[in-house]
Amino acid sequence: MCGIVAYIGSKEACPIIIKGLQRLEYRGYDSAGIALQQGKELNIYKTKGKVSNLQDFLEGKNIEGTSGMGHTRWATHGVPNDVNAHPHYSESKDLALIHNGIIENYAILKEEMVKRGHTFVSDTDTEVLIHLIEDIQLNEKIGLEEALLQALSEVTGAYAIVLMCKNNPDIMYAARKGSPLVIGVGENEYFMASDATPIVEYTKNVVYLNDEEIAIVTRNNGFTIKNIQNQLKTPYIQELELKLEMLEKGGYDHFMLKEIHEQPRSIKDSMRGRLNAMEGYIRLGGIKEYDQKLINANRIIIVACGTSWHAGLVAEYLFEDLARIPVEVEYASEFRYRNPVIHETDVVIAISQSGETADTLAAIQLAKQKGATIIGICNVVGSSIPRSSHAGSYTHAGPEIGVASTKAFTAQVTVLSLMAIYIAHKRGTISDSRYHQLITELDCIPDKVKQVIDNTNEQIKNIAQSLKDAPNFLYLGRGYNFPVALEGALKLKEISYIHAEGYPAAEMKHGPIALIDEKMPVVVVATNQSAYEKIISNIQEVAARKGRVIAIVNKADNTIKELAEHVIEIPETEEPFSPLLSVIPLQLLSYYIAVYLGKNVDQPRNLAKSVTVE
Ligand code: M6R
Repeated sequence: MCGIVAYIGSKEACPIIIKGLQRLEYRGYDSAGIALQQGKELNIYKTKGKVSNLQDFLEGKNIEGTSGMGHTRWATHGVPNDVNAHPHYSESKDLALIHNGIIENYAILKEEMVKRGHTFVSDTDTEVLIHLIEDIQLNEKIGLEEALLQALSEVTGAYAIVLMCKNNPDIMYAARKGSPLVIGVGENEYFMASDATPIVEYTKNVVYLNDEEIAIVTRNNGFTIKNIQNQLKTPYIQELELKLEMLEKGGYDHFMLKEIHEQPRSIKDSMRGRLNAMEGYIRLGGIKEYDQKLINANRIIIVACGTSWHAGLVAEYLFEDLARIPVEVEYASEFRYRNPVIHETDVVIAISQSGETADTLAAIQLAKQKGATIIGICNVVGSSIPRSSHAGSYTHAGPEIGVASTKAFTAQVTVLSLMAIYIAHKRGTISDSRYHQLITELDCIPDKVKQVIDNTNEQIKNIAQSLKDAPNFLYLGRGYNFPVALEGALKLKEISYIHAEGYPAAEMKHGPIALIDEKMPVVVVATNQSAYEKIISNIQEVAARKGRVIAIVNKADNTIKELAEHVIEIPETEEPFSPLLSVIPLQLLSYYIAVYLGKNVDQPRNLAKSVTVE
């Protein structure tokens, strides 16, 4: 949450920073601001709202300067307004800071500094940190770097920061703990950002800062990295695989629609080099050294949040059904605080698109301390969760920019399917012929996903038009498709702000059925061959109460046609892979409903793509 971008070099900083902030806007869009070193001045320009508001605000102003930093905010401390927007000045206004994360002990620090005469203008924890740095510098009569190190060792919580000093325009400082920060190394120019997306068009060479490291970045003398104990570190420069076109809408109206349409490709990419159906093998290089841990695991614990948690629920069915390993799927935020029982024979799988979700990261750190093996399933290469895991597999879905997760979910389920089949085969819980049947079908999934998109898009547009004014929705599914029902409901809530709930279809009669009347759309995922008759009974129960049934089926029979207001047909597949197909119509439905309602599909209110606060 919150996006950081900074530049120091010989080019004009402002256009680079603004473009970078637009790329990072998925991280938060409550307010935006920029600090520019302009001659002897360190000037701040900031305003409530999106980066486009900041651009309007800068119109006609002097924005010259070859070093600067910008921020896009997802509010934690203090409402979104101009004053709480970053950057923040120190007491003397000689220093300015941008920050992503939360300084947990800010209240005590603030109280002490108020007693010493500091005046704070905002409600933010960030302003407290920049005052603290200056306070230490002046009181202890030490240099800025030393004061920064000392301040960082006094604060608790999480931070990624960039610091500028009016009197030293050729140096910028960056630091991280718990929140991501990457440094772009160009030709006599440097970039600092929350992720590589603002950097990729200028340089492919990046250094990911580790926790409790600071970077001292100079205009003319390169950069150095230290830890907060003041020990020098050797920077590890990596080459980015990211391509610029991955960050653009490519002719689609929204990133979400582009990402839905990318799924045949992104699913294929997540299997590339790992699945060879012709030769009959699955290879998961990233977990090779730890596969015995998985094969012999007494229990798998999956930790995740949001959509990734739904992928985890699909994995519970996969691993239990195919590999016969008991699985627990945990909300990372609950797991980390309830003193969970963890054994050394447990394997913890952390699922996260961003690889930065604070609760998931904390959950694996806890499990690691207790001796469990940690496997990360993440999309963003080089992010914190893979770096804190023993092993893992990237999902290779490519950058997901729409806040509502779509292609990341299907890529996660694909990788988890590969893993479950691989482990099941090694454990002997599926026969050779079942193994070959499954991998042959998995190989066909990208084509089937394409068929779903091509064949249902127009129909779903019409359905969305007819349902868009409903105030509530119910989503029902059974077995492998129960998590899909949850995911469908989450997608609709997030981007259309319509209240929606997902339930196991059979659970409906234990309460939610009371909600059903002629105004209630009930989306039923009815593709499971094994429980088909039972799902038909559930649909009967909804129809008997005049609910508006939207059924996702493999082939519409007469019974379904009579009961449902809309029937969406999708291709058949092996049941373990049905979530990969059945989720697609639900993504499209929520997308078109949100579009018809005029909502901001890619940046829904109050949300951020990367949730780096707990
Ligand atoms: O980056 P992560 O996968 O760890 O993010 C977890 C959730 O914040 C995320 O899935 C969220 O629920 C999405 N907005 C869902 O569309």
